Amino acid sequence: MKRIANTNNNAKAKNYKNLDNKSSFRYLCLSNDLAVGGSRKFSIRDERDKEIEIAVFNIEGKYYAISNTCQHQKGPLSEGIIDSEKKIVTCPWHGWKYSVIDGKAPHKGGDSVNSYEIKVVEDKLYVDSIPTNVGTRITQPHQAYSSLDNSVQQFLNHMDNDRRLEVKGEGGGGYRNVDREVRVLGISTTNSNDKIAPRNSTSEAALSYALDYVKNEFRAETLMIKLRDLHFKHCEGYYSKNAKACIFPCSISEMDKEDKMIVIYEKVILWADVVIVATPIRWGNASSLYYQMIQRMNCVQNQIITHDTYLIRDKVAAFIITGGQDNVQHVAGELMMFWSELGFVFGKFPFVGWSRGWYAEDTENNLNAMKDNQQMQQDLMRTMRGALEMSRLVKENRYDERVLSKSG
Ligand code: FES
Repeated sequence: MKRIANTNNNAKAKNYKNLDNKSSFRYLCLSNDLAVGGSRKFSIRDERDKEIEIAVFNIEGKYYAISNTCQHQKGPLSEGIIDSEKKIVTCPWHGWKYSVIDGKAPHKGGDSVNSYEIKVVEDKLYVDSIPTNVGTRITQPHQAYSSLDNSVQQFLNHMDNDRRLEVKGEGGGGYRNVDREVRVLGISTTNSNDKIAPRNSTSEAALSYALDYVKNEFRAETLMIKLRDLHFKHCEGYYSKNAKACIFPCSISEMDKEDKMIVIYEKVILWADVVIVATPIRWGNASSLYYQMIQRMNCVQNQIITHDTYLIRDKVAAFIITGGQDNVQHVAGELMMFWSELGFVFGKFPFVGWSRGWYAEDTENNLNAMKDNQQMQQDLMRTMRGALEMSRLVKENRYDERVLSKSG
């Protein structure tokens, strides 16, 4: 047996005579197989014969091993960014940091992961499957985030239990919540600035008209969210790193208490039966705020991809699109594509669009022109009736549950 050439931690006295079999050390690879500056993931069996993943780093010729699994959302630390000087690895998914020496966070109060001892014997790398330090999750999401997370879990459990309990022939009968008033959420996506230079938003006025109509005619419970009043960040593209890095609720809301996308998630997933999105046309597309919102909803759709979980159940969407010039149908196509991807269904006449045509540069007259337009009002009412009727149908017929149970 040759001398042990490289040790990171001499705290434990071990019998290294049988490194390949009887000790708690596990063979990893030839030391040459992990170049200076490199890192690799290994799967080994621990003392209880459970498979664990460790990340091994070669920093300036010294080897370090910590758990490969980030405490936050299980990001792969072997793929993280290494700070050789500080011996810190940054998780590639959302940026949690760990010392590769002992697995601890470099800042007070941070999470830690297991760290392991590495030995080099005859140019072979071995790792001790018993951790030197045991990692712990210390940080907890803020109240609003955990509360949404818990509520959504309860909602999904309820839906699953309901499905198991209530499938009894066509129609299902008495499906949950079908007797309460329908809830209609309006999302106004205009970015008109009311504070500095107040102006009238045609799309928002049409949305108000639509919500009043369903409230007065159908006793619907209504709620309008004005996106411009919510502070929320743009998508930071965690999905591009790995589909599983795009978690629900979005990690941005978890990391930033002030991020109010939580309100949108809660109202869209848990509260509303019908969602009406109203947008002005801006250079042929929906408003920039609308896109900011839907990009943050990638995590809702992504649950289907990563967890086979459908957060949107038996919900209907409809759209109001207004513009001084044109492109109503193009915008409607974009909106319908996205909301159908989330799992929404549509009633008859799922969008109502209104434009004064290419030459209407007098945009200050848009709102009054719309108010004077009886056809527009008729169309709004027709679209609302279509949405409410579809909402009733999908609930009574348990549309989503039937589709999901067949496709599953
Ligand atoms: S920071 Fe590691 S998984 Fe989120």
